[in-house]
Amino acid sequence: MSLSSKLQYPVNLLISRLSYPLHLNFLSGLSFLFGSVTSRVKYDNYRLAHYAFGVYEAAARAKALGTSEITVIEFGVANGRGLMAMALYAGKVEKHFGIKIQVLGFDSGEGMPVTKGYKDHPELYASGDFPLQNREKLLSILPGNTKLIFLDLINNNWTDHIKSPVAFMSVDLDYYSSTIAILNYSAQLKSELFLPNTLIYFDDILLPNHNPFQGELLAIEEFNAANPLRKIVNYAESLRINRRLKNARWINQIYQLHVLDHKQRNEEYRNPGEAPLILGNKYLK
Ligand SMILES: C[S@@+](CC[C@H](N)C(=O)[O-])C[C@H]1O[C@@H](n2cnc3c(N)ncnc32)[C@H](O)[C@@H]1O
Repeated sequence: MSLSSKLQYPVNLLISRLSYPLHLNFLSGLSFLFGSVTSRVKYDNYRLAHYAFGVYEAAARAKALGTSEITVIEFGVANGRGLMAMALYAGKVEKHFGIKIQVLGFDSGEGMPVTKGYKDHPELYASGDFPLQNREKLLSILPGNTKLIFLDLINNNWTDHIKSPVAFMSVDLDYYSSTIAILNYSAQLKSELFLPNTLIYFDDILLPNHNPFQGELLAIEEFNAANPLRKIVNYAESLRINRRLKNARWINQIYQLHVLDHKQRNEEYRNPGEAPLILGNKYLK
């Protein structure tokens, strides 16, 4: 790794942190030095912050719903940089919340397949890009909570491997054809094998050429049009309102899969056994 690529992360981090007020940088510094998992996620103190946020938030939602085991997925693994991060963060988050997290990675292991027309952004990505260069080494260093499954994701149904509710998916397959394939297979998964709103990170949506008529953005549009009870909606606006550090690029890439036929989106699950909600009004006193 060259010196300039080694410096890229700290320099980018410094530049993004300079856009925050002093008190937030101070709190973030304290969190970096002494913080719990919760505060490190809140202050973006994990290097691949979108994986840390996705895994943490997925586990927090599962815990609140009384779900004791979840699955988080990396679609598109290449040399395993993201999968390793996901696995390491899952280990910490699992301990924090006391719930079991299965980490799954799916990839052909052979790099990008042949493009299937303009929708796959052939000007950006090409067949053979991003191969897994050392399969044995990656398999030997994966933690015990993690499985890497080698699959052609266009012709094989990944949902056969799901044993507990999918709570977070990172989608980094670059092509429209691969992304629409995994989304279409997801529609076959029973609603109880998702959280009522499952988090999704889409990696390939922010370059100047990305648009809703090609690539991952087109796959989202088509999925929503074809599935009346499953809708993928960008979550950036509400997420940004609720975060102290609002400028991170990854916030724009977080979506939710709303599983509208999920049993926990049913009236039985609203305050079960509790009295009706009351809104106060001081003028009535
Ligand atoms: C950009 S790379 C993923 C990078 C990885 N997420 C990381 O953090 O380093 C895209 C990956 O998607 C995989 N991929 C794309 N289409 C696929 C398909 N139809 N079936 C299996 N793998 C596919 C490629 O093999 C490639 O490794």
